[in-house]
Amino acid sequence: MKTIIEPFQIKVVEPIHMTTPEDRERILTEAGFNLFLVRADDVLIDLLTDSGTGAMSAEQWAGIMRADESYAGARSFYRFEQRMQEITGFAQALPTHQGRASERILFELLGGEGKIVPNNAHFDTTRANVEHSGAEPVDLPIEEAKDPKNRHPFKGNINLRALEQLIERVGAERVPVVMVTVTNNSGGGQPVSIENLRGVRAICDHHRIPFFLDACRFAENAWFIKLREEGQQDRAVKDIVRDMFDLCDGATISAKKDGIVNIGGVLLMRDAELFQQATNLLILTEGYVTYGGLAGRDLEAMAQGFKEVLREDYLDYRIRSTAYLGEQLLSAGIAIVEPPGGHAIYVDAKAFCPHIPQAEFPGQAVVCGLYRIGGIRAVEIGSVMFGGGGHAPPAMELVRLAIPRRVYTQSHIDYVAEAMIELHARRDTLRGLRIAYEPPALRHFTARFEEL
Ligand code: F0G
Repeated sequence: MKTIIEPFQIKVVEPIHMTTPEDRERILTEAGFNLFLVRADDVLIDLLTDSGTGAMSAEQWAGIMRADESYAGARSFYRFEQRMQEITGFAQALPTHQGRASERILFELLGGEGKIVPNNAHFDTTRANVEHSGAEPVDLPIEEAKDPKNRHPFKGNINLRALEQLIERVGAERVPVVMVTVTNNSGGGQPVSIENLRGVRAICDHHRIPFFLDACRFAENAWFIKLREEGQQDRAVKDIVRDMFDLCDGATISAKKDGIVNIGGVLLMRDAELFQQATNLLILTEGYVTYGGLAGRDLEAMAQGFKEVLREDYLDYRIRSTAYLGEQLLSAGIAIVEPPGGHAIYVDAKAFCPHIPQAEFPGQAVVCGLYRIGGIRAVEIGSVMFGGGGHAPPAMELVRLAIPRRVYTQSHIDYVAEAMIELHARRDTLRGLRIAYEPPALRHFTARFEEL
């Protein structure tokens, strides 16, 4: 069969709301042209993020009822811990309320003034947590990643030569950790190869630097490895996942992605002393070690979600359905980051509206246009997200259409493609914006704009 179907059926449904073009004009103006400030009820198809927006399975909901809410030593914690051991091989795992809580603890321990943290590309919260500690985040993507049309199979790879040169230039003592984000979210949801991870391991061994994964989308990354990396085709995804974790000394994970839960995170560390320090910080601000700011039911849902995400029929459908949207846009002449990523399609906004200069936020213009035309919510990943605060404008101006896990059907995706194609036909009408208000950090969440 040619069609790869959704490998699930729908048991619970939730109505979604259509608005009129007049409604949307008013809503957009009231929200200061920032879709983060729009109520979800006023959105028809919500592609703002794939984080915490997935649909849980019957087994996950059943786990929620079975959960143990004891303060210390809850049965649900041990189920969670055992699942993390099974999947990652790490002896211990700390639960946190989400990815950025793991990041905050990690960088409070390893960051600080004068330190430099390399990554293939920091996600915005990771970057902000590195900076908050006083350290400097440095992105080292491979050259191919800077060209949206380049179809390199592992465009998420870190530039090993640049990593080596950076460490030699600043000195290993100033680099407390090397991070690699799988898949690379800021750079198009692109995967990192096992070969590249091995290269990082060798460099870190040579300089005695710990190597951590930002492993939010580890299962999607492993699926790409199976599809694209030589010698990996006949291997089970769980074995590839295990290889990825075996190569690192620790990981920060947001379970809101490949954990397929609405809230939750994980912090993994092999070093016993560092683990102890992290445990102390966890207790200080998140919660006791066996719940880490979560309810027992959240731990149950995570334990089950991390199992389900490794099902190969699920990953096959997941990666294929994202590519399906990408292919429709490409065949209509819309430039995207190629090849399609795992959790999202990234539209090249510079190519979409060449008449809008980078300083006038072409990505935000596309985001507003897409909401106006179809009630669809997307997010800008460009100058709004990464500019400001003295940062140079990023190389690419992107609009991310992130696909929640197990939520939308093929006809929803067809509708999104239609809306994008219609917007593209009318792209001359899109207008640039200027910022009317911005907060000191992470400005994309609360900034307000005016249309020019
Ligand atoms: N690292 C990556 C690669 C991420 O994509 C995210 C979140 C985080 C860390 C932080 O995790 O949200 O649980 O605190 N990404 C979401 C997104 C928000 O929309 O891409 P968190």
